[in-house]
Amino acid sequence: MSDKPRTVSGMRPTGPLHIGHYFGVLKNWIELQESYQAYFFVADFHALTSDYASPANIGHNTIEMVKDWIASGLDPARCVIFRQSRVSEHADLSLLLSMITPVSWLERNPTYKEQLQQITSKDLGNAGFLCYPVLMAADILLYLPAGVPVGEDQLPHLELTREIARRFNYLYGEFFPEPKAMLTAAAKCPGLDGRKMSKSYGNGIFLSENLTELGRKIRGMYTDPARLRKSDPGNPDECNLFPYHLLLSSQEQREEIRAGCVQATFGCVDCKKIFLANLENFLRPLQERRSGLKDGDILAILKQGDAAAAEFASGTMAVVRQKMGLG
Ligand code: TRP
Repeated sequence: MSDKPRTVSGMRPTGPLHIGHYFGVLKNWIELQESYQAYFFVADFHALTSDYASPANIGHNTIEMVKDWIASGLDPARCVIFRQSRVSEHADLSLLLSMITPVSWLERNPTYKEQLQQITSKDLGNAGFLCYPVLMAADILLYLPAGVPVGEDQLPHLELTREIARRFNYLYGEFFPEPKAMLTAAAKCPGLDGRKMSKSYGNGIFLSENLTELGRKIRGMYTDPARLRKSDPGNPDECNLFPYHLLLSSQEQREEIRAGCVQATFGCVDCKKIFLANLENFLRPLQERRSGLKDGDILAILKQGDAAAAEFASGTMAVVRQKMGLG
């Protein structure tokens, strides 16, 4: 295992995950655990950078999220699953990296500027929020990874991580790698109403979704807005539902649906029936595994992961301390 390249990634504990998380991120993680020595963590410090005023749900959300990870196929025997806040090296390295990170780099970060503008429901004038990318750089660099699986939205943060690594190496001598982004072709998973799938829009299909409720949700789902009757020819490329057939349906089903939609022989109701059946087949085994996972099992897995992550991270910190005059 130790001769494999390393990779690391994290998710903020926002609660139960939806199928967009699965096809966009988790599926990729599950593949990576085979060929990399992979560290996957709950970014609970990062949750506090914006939700410091209402921390009550972090613990519960952590458990629910890790249940989804494991039910989906992340295997604690194949990768390290842990909590950021329980591996104190994350905080240590973040502090040390903050010494060499110009504030101007943080202030010009596009994600920071955008969120300050867009999120008006909470006060984001705290230092922790400004320093979000320094903490993220610490999360990453601690594990000396070859690459980091992230979504496109995280690219500015990863660029900053590389800049911080370069600055460290310039000041104290070559040590940190400049980790690459491992982007997957973005899986398109629109929400039920056609907007981006998001918990806050209430338009998601969750991995832990009640299967008897699911039919109702799918029946109400948006399809091609220009197709009002079955006799109108549809356009699968404009349809909110068709991208899901690309993810869940067989080649044969996809071809049948596409042809039937364009030729107006196959209606949206028929199309939704196939989607519902395939989605149920996908979710059922996942939910069976999930229901077998007790909170205590998750805590035990995390505890073991915390220790394994700390073991690697403490090795990195010993070198960093030495190089920064604290040896
Ligand atoms: N910022 C990431 C997100 O919002 C979460 C995250 C924190 C992360 N630290 C990381 C991702 C380190 C990859 C590597 O999704």
